[in-house]
Amino acid sequence: MNAFDEIIGYSAIKKELRQISDTLKNKDVYASLGVSAPKGLLLYGEPGVGKSLMASAIIEESGRKVFTCRKDKPNGDFVKEIKATFDKAAENAPSIVYLDDMDKFTNGDERHPDAEEYVTVQSCIDEVKGKQVFVLATANNIRCLPRSLRRAGRFDHKIEVSAPRGEDAEKIIAHYLKDKKFVDGVDARTIARIMDGKSCAELETVINEAGLYAGFERAEAITMNHFMEACLRTIFDVPVGNNDDYDDDCDEECENAQQNNSLADSTKFLSQIVYHEAGHAVVSEILCPESITLVSAHNRGGESGGFTDYYNDHSFAPLYWSKSRIIGALGGAAAIEQKYGIFDAGCDRDLDFAFDRTRDLVVNNCVCGLHLHKNMYEDSQRLWSEQEQAVSAEVEKYYRKAKEIISLNMDFFEKVATALAKKRLLSAVDIKQIKSECKIVPVAL
Ligand SMILES: Nc1ncnc2c1ncn2[C@@H]1O[C@H](COP(=O)(O)OP(=O)(O)O)[C@@H](O)[C@H]1O
Ligand SMILES: [Mg+2]
Repeated sequence: MNAFDEIIGYSAIKKELRQISDTLKNKDVYASLGVSAPKGLLLYGEPGVGKSLMASAIIEESGRKVFTCRKDKPNGDFVKEIKATFDKAAENAPSIVYLDDMDKFTNGDERHPDAEEYVTVQSCIDEVKGKQVFVLATANNIRCLPRSLRRAGRFDHKIEVSAPRGEDAEKIIAHYLKDKKFVDGVDARTIARIMDGKSCAELETVINEAGLYAGFERAEAITMNHFMEACLRTIFDVPVGNNDDYDDDCDEECENAQQNNSLADSTKFLSQIVYHEAGHAVVSEILCPESITLVSAHNRGGESGGFTDYYNDHSFAPLYWSKSRIIGALGGAAAIEQKYGIFDAGCDRDLDFAFDRTRDLVVNNCVCGLHLHKNMYEDSQRLWSEQEQAVSAEVEKYYRKAKEIISLNMDFFEKVATALAKKRLLSAVDIKQIKSECKIVPVAL
């Protein structure tokens, strides 16, 4: 096993790292072809995506001595430290200078192209040219770095590291689950869909956090509920103890209703939040199965109401997906009209989303005809007003579709709402289970 094997997934990046490391280890092979080894590599991307892990693998596999420079204290002599690091690396060549989190070398997150620190790094790189010193750097935000520093000849290779997606995310999650005691049925795929786009550091933290909740409850194993709770707190910023009053009231009411064993009674007590979110979930699941990752009746920090989270599923045709997302967003308001016969006063965010997305479809994708395309050479005021009329009519149409989907699938809708009122949080697994118990009426777009 070598150091690259510790990096899970990211096969394309690993291949490139292996090649770079080979040029550092076997310089004669490349010299015989008349080419020189690359002078530097810059790994950049969001925090927690594995840049330092990848840098460590290159360092380890290259077999070279490494001299690290990292701004971990606010000292005034940092420029001297940078110079000293390069000097030591040059004395000990072949070697590596490792500049970790280089975008933090100056103060603040703003761009400082002329900052003394960057000017120093740049001149130091130029000074060690031809001395077999490889410069390896990581940065979260490369826009902070001057272009002259990033250019080829200084950093010949630049690799963007993004949060893991799809199979990569599943593999990393499976790795973190391996040594944890999870109950059967908790699978990496479901977790990967909920955590889509999150960094490795976040994946690791949430999975561990789920274990801490289980331990505190003295549970024998970690369940999906522990994981979902950890997700809510860590990813969606739902504060600890949120909605306690609502939870207590709802618990009592639901328990009474359940003693009467009547779905109608139990749903009677459910709040508008629950029906609103159930509307999003049902409409989205009918149009795009497995697109919902979680539905919550808890509110996020600073926002009112619950929330529904979606998996950005690229297997659907883009236009179908866009329309479905708009109809799904209108599902919350459609549910309230269906249930209470009133228009939902608290859905302005959903409406903003629906109008913005629909406008995009009308003016860019020409869903209402070419004559409304943004590039039409028309009197702009007239074009704009025709576009807006078309957008309103489209949104109305999508809203009617959302209502139709709910009314044809009332059993599914009521069961999701009931389960949500009881558990406050439903995962993709719960939704799938409920769906399997209902008669589903598909609706075409
Ligand atoms: N591809 C990966 N495979 C396994 N663990 C990873 C991977 N990427 C990141 N990690 C782990 O995630 C955490 C954060 O990674 P790190 O390299 O410090 O991120 P960055 O430097 O981008 O902020 C570390 O515990 C690291 O080991
Ligand atoms: Mg790092």
